[in-house]
Amino acid sequence: MTLKCTADRYGQVAILFHWIAALFIVLLLASGFRAVGTLDPAARLLMLRFHVVAGVMVGVLTLGRAAWWMFADRKPAPVAGPSALSGRIAAIVHALFYVVILGMAASGIGMLALAGAGAVLFGGAAGELPDFWNYLPRVPHGAGARLLVVLLLLHVGGALYHHVVRRERVLARIGLFR
Ligand code: HEM
Ligand code: HEM
Repeated sequence: MTLKCTADRYGQVAILFHWIAALFIVLLLASGFRAVGTLDPAARLLMLRFHVVAGVMVGVLTLGRAAWWMFADRKPAPVAGPSALSGRIAAIVHALFYVVILGMAASGIGMLALAGAGAVLFGGAAGELPDFWNYLPRVPHGAGARLLVVLLLLHVGGALYHHVVRRERVLARIGLFR
């Protein structure tokens, strides 16, 4: 396997970006929904500490990944799927991932800054966490989280369909089940 993509496979760098981001995005969705759902303030604090650090990290990783595609590498040719439409849908879902992930990171940082919650979260300051719904970025953050779940379901459903049903071995393109 090469560092950069070949005509029919993603390269090592793209594969590393993909799976590190995928792992942390699943953890971010879980920790975000769990933080909002729990009634235990200590558990909420703990979840959000992890969530904020991981969220900023995924934002930076996604900028790095976009820069990688812009300046250093080109994606492999699309899978010769059942129709041009399915390739176009995949490309739109991939592009939307970047937009929504960067939007989530920006709205998360905006929400935290406007609420001034950094001191309670990380500075050991006494007091309760605020109600983040008092701050505008909370609205796109909540909507983006749900959109991300829909994109993830479409993406994983599409990948499994092409790999298992159509036997196009798309998972091997991104480093799995060679
Ligand atoms: C939240 C988690 C995930 C995100 C954000 C994500 C995002 C992406 C993006 C943006 C691409 C295009 C390549 C790139 O721009 O780097 C891609 C490719 C791919 N992903 Fe994911 N992915 C996620 C999870 C998964 C999972 C769990 C699977 C497996 C079931 C998967 C399977 C694939 C495959 C097979 C490709 C290659 C598609 C092709 O052949 O062109 N992804 N993913
Ligand atoms: C890709 C990155 C991110 C994802 C996928 C994500 C996901 C989520 C999810 C699923 C929720 C629960 C939403 C709901 O139930 O309506 C949430 C809440 C939250 N997120 Fe994020 N998040 C990300 C980045 C960030 C960042 C960078 C920050 C701060 C710097 C942040 C701060 C928060 C806070 C404070 C809440 C709790 C809001 C509340 O208690 O009402 N998030 N996030």
